[in-house]
Amino acid sequence: MGRPKITIVGAGNVGATAAHWCAAKELGDIVLIDIIEGVPQGKGLDLYEAAPVEGFDSRITGTNDYADTAGSDVVVVTAGIARKPGMSRDDLISTNAGIVGSVTDEIVKVSPDCILIIVSNPLDVMVTKAHMQCKFPRERIVGMAGVLDSARFRTFISMELNVSVEDISATVLGGHGDSMVPLPRYSTVSGIPITALMKPERIEELVQRTRDGGAEIVNFLKTGSAFYAPGAAVIQMVESILRDKKRVLPCAALLQGEYGQEGIFMGVPVKLGSRGVEEVIELELTPEEKSAFDKSADHVRELIKTLS
Ligand code: LAC
Repeated sequence: MGRPKITIVGAGNVGATAAHWCAAKELGDIVLIDIIEGVPQGKGLDLYEAAPVEGFDSRITGTNDYADTAGSDVVVVTAGIARKPGMSRDDLISTNAGIVGSVTDEIVKVSPDCILIIVSNPLDVMVTKAHMQCKFPRERIVGMAGVLDSARFRTFISMELNVSVEDISATVLGGHGDSMVPLPRYSTVSGIPITALMKPERIEELVQRTRDGGAEIVNFLKTGSAFYAPGAAVIQMVESILRDKKRVLPCAALLQGEYGQEGIFMGVPVKLGSRGVEEVIELELTPEEKSAFDKSADHVRELIKTLS
């Protein structure tokens, strides 16, 4: 049995950082692919040369040729443009839909059995676009956003309470955008809901900072968007799949009646194992939470209409 093969499409900041986390965790051999000549080769070889120092046995290949990605077990799509200050993720739709559509076509030709993870923005629309192209069963196509959004929420809770991030878990539902739905009731410190540890107004501030988490980084960087946390987040999903850990993580999954929604990708808790999305977990929501979730779904549906 050989090592798992992981392809990362897009050798920009998110793709290269994902490759870095992936190699550090020794999850398998990595193919880094981009349309720009030299960049995936250069970053790939550079990362490969870190292997003896860090002691990971992962072969890293940089390429511009999809033939090199053939037979991948997991494919992570980060390709697309990133936003600049003042732009919302939604402003990226037309450019990135073209890119994600053609990337998906290429991937499916040579890795028809892969598990596809979409990272490109606006995430909920891009995973829908990829699904339109590949028609994979819902087990094998999923979007990364909730792990990132909940990681941000966990970071802010940790800063606020001065407790270890390890003891904090947080749940964020809905779309990856202004309509995302962080759930304080389901966010805990060692099992204690944060609603028992912080004033409601303060929680609301942290919730809002989470919603604006991507923009906060864009406003600092000015020339691009976040990449360390997005890269780490997607690799946590890859790890759960390849090691069949069956972690329960918030991901954008195709809903088939869950949460009263049908045929739409939305951020929900998902069990990720070797078969991909092995289960969509339904939480009980209050009427307010449900209405925020539905509003988020409506927003994503509106965006999807602009695709055709
Ligand atoms: C963010 C972008 C990557 O949330 O969506 O930082």
